Amino acid sequence: MNARNLIPLLAASTIMTTNCSSNNVASREFGKTPSGETVELYTLKNAKGVEAAISTYGGVVVSLKVPDRAGALGDIVLGFDDFKGYLIPPPYFGAIVGRYGNRIAHAQFTLDGVDYKLAKNDGDNTLHGGKRGFDKVLWKAKPGPGQSLELTYLSKDGEEGYPGNLSVTVVYTLTDDNELKIDYTATTDKDTVLNLTNHSYFNLAGQGEGDILGHELTLNADRYTPVDKGLIPTGELRSVEGTPFDFRQPHAIGERIGSNDEQMVLGGGYDHNFVLNRSGDGLSLAAKVTAAKSGRVLEVLTTEPAIQFYTGNFLDGTIHGKGGKVYGLRSAFCLETQHYPDSPNHPAFPSTELKPGQTYHTTTVFRFSQS
Ligand code: BGC
Repeated sequence: MNARNLIPLLAASTIMTTNCSSNNVASREFGKTPSGETVELYTLKNAKGVEAAISTYGGVVVSLKVPDRAGALGDIVLGFDDFKGYLIPPPYFGAIVGRYGNRIAHAQFTLDGVDYKLAKNDGDNTLHGGKRGFDKVLWKAKPGPGQSLELTYLSKDGEEGYPGNLSVTVVYTLTDDNELKIDYTATTDKDTVLNLTNHSYFNLAGQGEGDILGHELTLNADRYTPVDKGLIPTGELRSVEGTPFDFRQPHAIGERIGSNDEQMVLGGGYDHNFVLNRSGDGLSLAAKVTAAKSGRVLEVLTTEPAIQFYTGNFLDGTIHGKGGKVYGLRSAFCLETQHYPDSPNHPAFPSTELKPGQTYHTTTVFRFSQS
């Protein structure tokens, strides 16, 4: 073997980079599942150098590099450099969550007169799809036009207790306007329920760069759904007026997080579903977060009726992520666009049912800019 051939071979065995349909979508092997299946990591890159790396395992957004005020790219999502980190497993870092994002009380619901029992993985409740939700399965990937990646997964009838073969497509698109757009589509062959979301943990100062208490949040929500001690909505839609849940004007996330408001105590911080003020069915602005120091700004637009605002209250410093960074309490926030938790048991909440012949389609956009 001559030296000329050796270099490309070495490169192939260490990074295994293959170019897919365009220069802006590359893939490499990220690791192997315990059963030996290959997990790939796709990287989307836009004209401004913004980059999103997405794993076929869980559809996880493994890294997201966006510019700060000075134009310096920084990775602003929690995650792992090594695929093995995702097998431990982490609390849904960056993952596609399904079949039902958030909680269903007592892990059961009734649909068309039939009682369905789901996998219990959160005390007596089911959380984020059960024991092996969409965050822990291997998705089929196909680079799409421009800077996009299509992921597909067939969730079999009875998986984690849910009825119907559910065919799911999630498309990640990185636009040249520095937006990560996520389109979720699904069809079923039997009446079912679903609530798909993405569970990225953001820190606009950069992943592992301290807590997010100084970030300023605006939430376009007059009401939220208070919870019981199992974090299941009581059914009430409560006004945020005069409470620490009022983010209609910008507030630092940490400003009122230590309040003794009963709901704040139950959540151990913010871990609540906000009912979005919407007009029409299209994309509408749900949330805006600004980080004064870095100047990074995140806006969340969605077609969904609600958003879960979670402040990483269960992070406790035991997880060491990318670059060995320690993920401590409130070192990230999540803004999970969704339907309300436990909707299948609350007929008054917007319906999460899907029937054969219908197509589920929702869109969420994470838009990045600078202040
Ligand atoms: C939930 C939290 C949960 C977290 C897991 C959030 O969506 O609201 O209660 O602990 O996900 O990472």
